[in-house]
Amino acid sequence: MSARRTSSNRRSSVVVEAKAGARRVALLGAAGGIGQPLALLLKMQPLVAELSLYDIANTVGVAADLSHCNTTVKVTGHTGQENLAAALEGADLVVIPAGVPRKPGMTRDDLFNINAGIVKNLAEAVAKHCPQAVIAIISNPVNSTVPITAEVLKKAGVYDPRKVLGVTTLDVVRANTFVAEAKGLPTQDVDVPVVGGHAGITILPLLSQTNPSVSFTEEEAAKLTERIQNAGTEVVEAKAGAGSATLSMAYAAARFSESVLRGLEGEPNVYEAAYVESKVTELPYFASKVRLGPNGAEEVLPLGKLSPYEEKGVAELIPVLKKNIDTGIEFANK
Ligand code: NAD
Ligand code: LMR
Repeated sequence: MSARRTSSNRRSSVVVEAKAGARRVALLGAAGGIGQPLALLLKMQPLVAELSLYDIANTVGVAADLSHCNTTVKVTGHTGQENLAAALEGADLVVIPAGVPRKPGMTRDDLFNINAGIVKNLAEAVAKHCPQAVIAIISNPVNSTVPITAEVLKKAGVYDPRKVLGVTTLDVVRANTFVAEAKGLPTQDVDVPVVGGHAGITILPLLSQTNPSVSFTEEEAAKLTERIQNAGTEVVEAKAGAGSATLSMAYAAARFSESVLRGLEGEPNVYEAAYVESKVTELPYFASKVRLGPNGAEEVLPLGKLSPYEEKGVAELIPVLKKNIDTGIEFANK
């Protein structure tokens, strides 16, 4: 069976034939605020054959509920560490939103003490049970959880830098939305590259490279940049203690997962932002646009021409991001 689809949003404009329902996706943290809506979106994803849901609690109920939707995706539910192997076996893509979210007044780094251990444990299981899988890491602080995952896989001798991807799609989604609103453009036509990392000033939208081309005064650019950098906090404060972005994150992760799967299927010209091992700056990890292919992030794209404001932004974020990376590497090797 095949699905006919037209690529869009700065991807190839060719119509490609994609094999439907060939891929196995494991979602770790599947019963949570992101996990549940993301599971629903993945249940509707034609490239997925099997969706394996894993959490420390409540997964069986979520899986039973979801399994009644009459799409072709087969859903299985797994709860508890002893069932993690079964959840991961044969996965092509492992998506990880497991961990605790922020409350008002917290930074993403404040989540490190709990989430670093959770991600390390899950990465160890991936290394053992599905080392060939692409891993998409949502759990914060992403700036540190990606280096942690890479270190775990290195230790296990199964690290492939193309397959460890920090999900920064929500920053791009937000930047696209806010720029479209500010410039009166159709949201679906706007593409703003966002580079760096995923916290505070490490989130750097490259507004000068917005497609379609738009111009901003320096004041406008500064205001928009700050809004994009603080958008997560905007949601945390609006939710007033009930967590952080879940629905927009599920939307962003579904888009990212689809792109990874299309790449795995061999579709050409699939691009997304991702926080990956990188040589585009002096740092070992950096978010920028990547080309997704049969092995994950096949190519990490350079930053392109920056405005003086963006150049300053990169210079300022580098020491902050370096500290986050070092913290992750140190934790993983403790
Ligand atoms: P949540 O608390 O609603 O859900 C997290 C889920 O993880 C829970 O169901 C919990 O039981 C599960 N979990 C905890 N420990 C686990 C383990 N060892 N194995 C498997 N599952 C485990 O939180 P949420 O709102 O879904 O957010 C999850 C994470 O995603 C947070 O760290 C948050 O900061 C992050 N996040 C990242 C982005 C991004 O852009 N990368 C965006 C939003 C949220
Ligand atoms: C976000 O950007 O929404 C997430 O990183 C969650 C958070 O803590 O802000």
